[in-house]
Amino acid sequence: MRTWVSGRLLADPDAPALAARDHGVTVGDGVFEVVKVVHGRLFAPGLHLERLVRSARGLGLPDPDPDEVRRGMAAVLEGEVPPFARLRITWTGGLAPLGTHRGDGQPTLTVVTAPVDPWPETATVSTVPWPRNERGALAGLKTTSYGENVRALAHAHERGSSEAVFANLRGHLCEGTGTNVFYVVDGELRTPTLASGCLAGVTRRLVLEWYGATEVDEPIEVVTRAASEVFLTSSTRDVQGVRRWDDRQLDAPGPITTQARQVWHEREGELFESP
Ligand SMILES: Cc1ncc(COP(=O)(O)O)c(C=O)c1O
Repeated sequence: MRTWVSGRLLADPDAPALAARDHGVTVGDGVFEVVKVVHGRLFAPGLHLERLVRSARGLGLPDPDPDEVRRGMAAVLEGEVPPFARLRITWTGGLAPLGTHRGDGQPTLTVVTAPVDPWPETATVSTVPWPRNERGALAGLKTTSYGENVRALAHAHERGSSEAVFANLRGHLCEGTGTNVFYVVDGELRTPTLASGCLAGVTRRLVLEWYGATEVDEPIEVVTRAASEVFLTSSTRDVQGVRRWDDRQLDAPGPITTQARQVWHEREGELFESP
């Protein structure tokens, strides 16, 4: 594991490094990205940087400097690297008064990398009782205000599931705590539109581009009762079949999931970059 904060690599990656008054601490005034790293190469860093800037603008933070972010990514990936890792970029509000309003401190840029185990081939899902607010100010932004996701994932874990999925205020399928959802009904692969409040996942975007799916918003029950296949997408899962949703067993990975995974593996090499 390596940690880079405000332009320097920490000798001890777990040493305290963020100011206690950073506005990202306590009030969650920050944005972040998670990039997949395979044998030291970054998957689609440009798409993640684009989204980091979009999230920062959505939250009203200044734009992070992409060159500085790339310097941080290179610094944490120098030397020996594990075969499979996660790299997290965080851009938080910086020094601020002890209140909700932002100070005039410079935001803090943090880059951390740590090895991770690849995800299992299939996942299990629980629907959570709390809605995603698709009309909220932070809808679709990847902010550090992820407390709702932490709560929802714990709820899923208590039920023996590996991911939690939200409906939105309209009762339509939205997304998981760290994943987008694709499902098959009547042989058609579908996924919610961005108006559902889901994050514009990098993996979601590439599955739409490389494999294709219909973007549609519909009640979550269509998925929980009628889908013949479901898969999740995220930057470290890629395309992961779902073998159980609440109490319903599913074919996983089903035929369409298998095809989408195959296309993913054929194409993903195009987007790896050295730091
Ligand atoms: C809430 C949420 N939805 C979806 C995703 C999947 O996005 P990506 O494919 O960019 O990892 C993530 C993970 O980043 C997430 O946190």
